[in-house]
Amino acid sequence: GDRDRINIAIDGPAGAGKSTVARKVAETLNYIYIDTGAMYRAVTLSALRNGISIDDKEMLSVHAENIVITLMPGAAGQVVLLNGEDVTTDIRSREVTLHVSQVSAVERVRLRLVAMQRQLAQSKGVVMDGRDIGSHVLPNAELKIFLTASVEERALRRFKELNGRDSISLEQLEREIAERDRKDQEREISPLVCAPDAIVLDSTSMTIDEVADNIVNLSRTKLAEA
Ligand code: DC
Repeated sequence: GDRDRINIAIDGPAGAGKSTVARKVAETLNYIYIDTGAMYRAVTLSALRNGISIDDKEMLSVHAENIVITLMPGAAGQVVLLNGEDVTTDIRSREVTLHVSQVSAVERVRLRLVAMQRQLAQSKGVVMDGRDIGSHVLPNAELKIFLTASVEERALRRFKELNGRDSISLEQLEREIAERDRKDQEREISPLVCAPDAIVLDSTSMTIDEVADNIVNLSRTKLAEA
């Protein structure tokens, strides 16, 4: 029942390791992992594919309200469906990454996705990662984590992950990450902020496993209190 499951919100800037950590925590606790960034990416991909101008808030809003986004557990993590089509890989493209901040700043796009996110968390037992989960989407989440790391470390992790695939320099990655941080923090609606009751974890010199273990331990403490 509700008493033996909690909701865990994991927020923080791009590249802090949120998704990897959230997936591990969910696996350990046998919870459902929800990557909200993937939802904003799916809207962005769909808009780009349909030739919708990224500056046209009205068209973006109507579009977001008319597409079907489905999140499903898969063998290699969360699978994202856009109108039934598997777009798990496509939503990670550089083009989507470069435009997603602007799409996620549109109020009606956020309203639509936040409603979906709240519904997914209704029966508890959810680990949700994003930017505004603890501060706005799930203000009553029993455990809130704000996961950070230095810009340099986040760029380096992304650089290693790309492994030469995008022929992009480390310096360019640092600039793009800093720029995305700025946009995510400065937007008017639900900016990236640390909720007052969130626990701040700096992952700069921690391994993914250390961070995940830390959060699992915190969640067991919360469960014992409940
Ligand atoms: O975590 P990510 O890089 O996949 O997120 C993609 C973008 O979506 C990011 O630039 C900020 C936005 N986002 C958001 O505004 N709110 C969320 N809850 C999750 C992501």
